[in-house]
Amino acid sequence: MNIQENISLKAYNTFGIDVKARYFVEITGLVQLQKVLELKSYPKKFIISGGSNMLLTKDIDALVIHINLKGITIAEENEDEVKIKVMAGENWHGLVQWTLEKGYGGLENLSLIPGNTGTAPIQNIGAYGVELKDVFVSCTAMEIKTGELVSFDNEACKFGYRDSIFKNEAKGQYIITSVHLKLTKKNHVLHTGYGAIEAELKKNGIVYPTIRDISDAVITIRQSKLPDPAALGNSGSFFKNPVISKKAFEKFIKKHPEAPHYEVDEEEFKIPAGWLIEQAGFKGKRFGDAGVHEKQALVLVNYGNATGEDILKLSQLIQKEVAQKFNIKIQPEVNIIK
Ligand code: EPU
Repeated sequence: MNIQENISLKAYNTFGIDVKARYFVEITGLVQLQKVLELKSYPKKFIISGGSNMLLTKDIDALVIHINLKGITIAEENEDEVKIKVMAGENWHGLVQWTLEKGYGGLENLSLIPGNTGTAPIQNIGAYGVELKDVFVSCTAMEIKTGELVSFDNEACKFGYRDSIFKNEAKGQYIITSVHLKLTKKNHVLHTGYGAIEAELKKNGIVYPTIRDISDAVITIRQSKLPDPAALGNSGSFFKNPVISKKAFEKFIKKHPEAPHYEVDEEEFKIPAGWLIEQAGFKGKRFGDAGVHEKQALVLVNYGNATGEDILKLSQLIQKEVAQKFNIKIQPEVNIIK
């Protein structure tokens, strides 16, 4: 086992924040992971995988365990459906591409989401009308305290909007080691209802889209407004879209009739945080090396040498001004490591 010391984590988080890990180890096997968890000489442990949904604000004084478990296998299949087992360290978009090459449907709307498969259930990744929970069967996770493997089925994960048990009751207690998904081999259920997808397909003259067409449309849309973390450090949407009560919504919409909004159910409404942030004047603004993306105000970016504190301070300023202007609290979607 190769435990390194004082390793920069810049290449291990998509924000590109340059903090150091006191100790660092790369994990490629389950037995190796169990052994690392047993190490008494490193009482503090910190798990990192794709690093696509975290903001690191200081050096990590712990043993940083980088999950690099690989492999995609078919667990079960019949004429109509296939169940696949994906190891946690598989890159998410690489997985989506693999399913498309095989002709398996279900992940096409989730194309180009940064990060690894093992972290997808933690925040129930979602885009363009589809969420992970729609194709999720179960995941296997290792309990950090005992090294035992436990299975969580779809219900046990308590998925919500960018939310799961792993962000709540089970937070910090498990390492997801593999994810099991159920995909279609034929009669794919296509989700083109999300406005931008239909428009993109129409533009290309596609009337009967394939799953590949949908993936291509999603990739084009994402590339047109979301920055590529390899070119500009970011963590996707920094904030969740706020959900407010009907009463609060009625007051809000009276004042701002032009605001985009979605009905969650009879009692609640969702307002795009990107719109609120843009209206508060932050879109495209830069504060040193921390900034708000010029094409999507929901995304905070690192122009090169921003610290985690710089990004955090900017996010707090945005929260304050949005609250002052609209009386709506917006909450981070990314995991802030303080
Ligand atoms: N809008 C603005 N200004 C902006 C950004 C958005 O006015 O700077 C408005 C748009 O015009 C539109 C509305 O807000 O009317 C919604 O915008 P968009 O369709 O771009 O989606 P979003 O609500 O901003 C969410 C997800 C994204 C996901 C897209 C597409 C959250 C927090 N974000 O963004 O997820 O890709 O929908 O489904 O739910 C992520 O989680 O990292 C992520 C990128």
